[in-house]
Amino acid sequence: MSIQTVFAVESSCDETSISIVQSETLDQHSSEQFPTRLRVLAHIVESQTSHLVFGGVVPEVAARDHLLKITPLAREALAQAQIRANEVDAVAVTLGPGLIGALMVGAMFAQGLAKALNKPLLGINHVDAHLSPALLLESFYPRTDLGEWLEVSPIKFPALALTVSGGHCHLSLLKSPRERTLLGHTADDACGEAFDKVAKLLGLPYPGGPHLETLAAKANKESNPFKFRSVLADKNNRHGFSYSGLKTQVLDTVRKQLGYPTGRIQGHSLPDDVKQNIAAAFQDAAIGQLMDRLNNALRDFPDIRTVVVAGGVAANSEFRRRLAEQTQIQFRFAPMSLCSDNATMIALHALIPHSTLASPHPFSRYTYGE
Ligand code: KG4
Ligand code: ZN
Repeated sequence: MSIQTVFAVESSCDETSISIVQSETLDQHSSEQFPTRLRVLAHIVESQTSHLVFGGVVPEVAARDHLLKITPLAREALAQAQIRANEVDAVAVTLGPGLIGALMVGAMFAQGLAKALNKPLLGINHVDAHLSPALLLESFYPRTDLGEWLEVSPIKFPALALTVSGGHCHLSLLKSPRERTLLGHTADDACGEAFDKVAKLLGLPYPGGPHLETLAAKANKESNPFKFRSVLADKNNRHGFSYSGLKTQVLDTVRKQLGYPTGRIQGHSLPDDVKQNIAAAFQDAAIGQLMDRLNNALRDFPDIRTVVVAGGVAANSEFRRRLAEQTQIQFRFAPMSLCSDNATMIALHALIPHSTLASPHPFSRYTYGE
């Protein structure tokens, strides 16, 4: 039996996150073995609040915020894990995709730490990493599971994987945990980004996804006068996404409801029931597009045995409900606490042995430096 400990850093957007995760494998050749048990020793996610006044992430502000927080959070993680830095076996860090200034803070910190400790540095692709919690764990509740050994619960392959968040909307095929082939991605906005922008139009705070979901839940489902259309997939592009048209439809509707004002839209002044109905109609169309592309892929690849969903939008309960209702196939969502950006997913990805996941991103190299 062998135990590996990974210290992981995530700073690709507006979460500064540090985790320390241990994996247990059955024999000495742990680099070739899938872990049998996992133990999250530290899980620290600090969401930046400086963006709230801007209604969205400002890259320069995000980078400076990471710079201030990363060292104290790393110390806090070691204290939470009750280990010394030189007890870790490797340092893992998100290399991309993400905001370049924000990524550089994490990457430089991790590189410095790995050098100081003389341990390997693993560069992790953020999109691949989002999927790892769903590939390994059925659930993870930080409050009760921190420090506890958790049985790995592998999924059946081949799997269809959807990474859907504020920065990405990627549909991929997974032959194994290590082999990802991209089927399609968004041509413009990511799904979560559309949630954020529509939420902002309706006067909701950032990040808008969870607020919009709460607002939509109050709408009258039976008699919603609003209906938006998502771009339909065509035979040349059965797995790609597009959200900018949907966003424009919502913008036009809000303008119309406000009596076609020019300049800045004040959607928060609309009556509550109008806002609720617009939110519900948008959410319906946005999730409808995800369901449509998932169903296309399930038809195109009939040997798929599991659907895996990860990323911030995977926390949406209406999406979870519709997937459960409309697919016959086994599916696995990333644990709720690991849907949004966090370093535990980076550590978990590092612990999937010899990860060579194909990736559309140039920073997909698994290891760099020594
Ligand atoms: O994975 P994540 O933390 O960051 C990126 O890698 O982008 O995802 C954040 C995104 C935001 O756009 C947020 O509004 C969205 O996920 N999100 C949701 C929900 N919770 C978070 N969107 C819809 N419904 C939710 N419940
Ligand atoms: Zn993400």
